[in-house]
Amino acid sequence: MITRRLVIREYTTADTPAVQENVRDASYWEHHATEPPSAEQISALILWAVQEQSIKPRINYYLASARKDSGVIIGEAVLRITDPVHRQGEIGFGIGRKYWKQGYATEIGACLLHAAFSHFKLHRVLGQCAPDNKASIRVMQKLGMAREGMMRDTTFARGKWWSSVVYSILEHEYAKIGKLTQT
Ligand SMILES: CC(C)(COP(=O)(O)OP(=O)(O)OC[C@H]1O[C@@H](n2cnc3c(N)ncnc32)[C@H](O)[C@@H]1OP(=O)(O)O)[C@@H](O)C(=O)NCCC(=O)NCCS
Repeated sequence: MITRRLVIREYTTADTPAVQENVRDASYWEHHATEPPSAEQISALILWAVQEQSIKPRINYYLASARKDSGVIIGEAVLRITDPVHRQGEIGFGIGRKYWKQGYATEIGACLLHAAFSHFKLHRVLGQCAPDNKASIRVMQKLGMAREGMMRDTTFARGKWWSSVVYSILEHEYAKIGKLTQT
């Protein structure tokens, strides 16, 4: 998939060092209910992403986001078909620390919503993050997603309970505003 500045494409195992570099900074994991993964765990994740590419029917799209001009991977784009029968999906994004606040997550999110509604014909797409992940919440708001609420204390990790705020957008809402958020 092509956006204004990015190519959103399948991972290959050759991308592993670039992903490791992008998620190396501890601030990337500040709002995640997980310990920062080891280099081996990142390798396993990319291998998993590659294996998912040939699973049919496919439900996990864990994709690389690379600059169109240089090919440099600036982050990841995630689309999961969480319930094909009821046409439910979830999007996610992560950007390497040095590329934050340049509109990349919003560009990726707009592209994922376009795919979710136009290609996969989903009815509802959600996104979720920790309540204090202000940048992620802002991105979901910019994408036209509405806050549904907060799931409280869903995970105990790193010595504390974590909650999750949920945002979503429905197909008829996207039909109205989708074009505006296309980048
Ligand atoms: C959340 C994340 C994806 C945002 O990526 P990004 O490319 O910087 O996002 P964008 O540039 O498209 O938009 C960020 C918006 O949040 C705002 N923002 C950033 N940090 C903020 C903060 N601490 N408080 C309030 N707003 C903030 C920016 O100003 C911008 O809004 P604006 O366009 O109205 O000015 C990125 O910070 C990241 O990868 N974090 C680590 C992984 C993660 O948390 N992923 C998502 C949750 S699972």
